[in-house]
Amino acid sequence: MLKRAIIVGASSGIGAALARRLVSEGYKVGLVARRSEALDTLATRLNGDGPKRAFVCAHDVTDVDGARTAFEGLVTQLDGLDTLIYSAGIMPAVGPDEFDADKDRAIVSVNVIGAMAWLDLGAERFLKQGSGMLVGIGSVAGDRGRRGQPAYAASKAALHTFMEALRNRLAPKGVHVLTVKPGPTHTPMTEGLDKLPMAIDADQSADGIFRAMARRADTAYVPFQWMPIMAVIKSIPSVIFRRLPLD
Ligand SMILES: NC(=O)c1ccc[n+]([C@@H]2O[C@H](COP(=O)([O-])OP(=O)(O)OC[C@H]3O[C@@H](n4cnc5c(N)ncnc54)[C@H](OP(=O)(O)O)[C@@H]3O)[C@@H](O)[C@H]2O)c1
Repeated sequence: MLKRAIIVGASSGIGAALARRLVSEGYKVGLVARRSEALDTLATRLNGDGPKRAFVCAHDVTDVDGARTAFEGLVTQLDGLDTLIYSAGIMPAVGPDEFDADKDRAIVSVNVIGAMAWLDLGAERFLKQGSGMLVGIGSVAGDRGRRGQPAYAASKAALHTFMEALRNRLAPKGVHVLTVKPGPTHTPMTEGLDKLPMAIDADQSADGIFRAMARRADTAYVPFQWMPIMAVIKSIPSVIFRRLPLD
């Protein structure tokens, strides 16, 4: 039987690249995001002339009450579920002297609350079936509180901790939980940003994520070179870290 995955945040960037990769690996996919036109275009391309492999659900993840209906509708269309990937995220520009609670709330709504709502739905279903994989797209940015993006970094740290707790709950029940920490990646999110060290493209990122899924990793830095780099960065004492030119 074909494997079945839902990708939340599939209309562009890493989520769209993951959809292409999973379909090429024989999956059926449910595509979730707000921009239905972008999802339709992607689904048309993925479906080609063959049997239907991609199903679209236009949904705003800040509508937490609507998540269950969206989730269950896709599970029905896919005829079951093996993998849930949460890739939705926002990182609005923040000025060096800007402190904006509305912006921070918007970031937390999408990157944390939306993630919890969808991952909880996946967890509930996978717990019942005794199998399945939850994948959360975090970020290297969640490993330290750099000065440039306080709420974004905090949102990713929250997601990492949430995923770890889900793993501790679900691993004994046969459910796998993978936390992905991508480094800078060329996508619409990073368009116009000038400092993108060691940046890769979205297809390379999807390749690294797919390989981490295949080897059932707990946490995967993508590309993997970020793992030793972040180990060093995480070990720097705060008093020194805040003097470093890392925005
Ligand atoms: N690019 C990087 O350098 C980088 C590095 C580390 C981690 N990440 C993480 O990777 C993930 C994917 O980001 P990306 O770089 O691929 O950026 P992207 O191209 O901007 O993709 C973000 C996705 O999130 C969806 N989304 C945003 N707000 C939403 C909402 N309210 N409801 C539903 N979907 C929503 C977008 O769809 P709609 O706009 O159609 O709703 C889009 O599909 C994010 O979690 C990001 O934080 C990115």
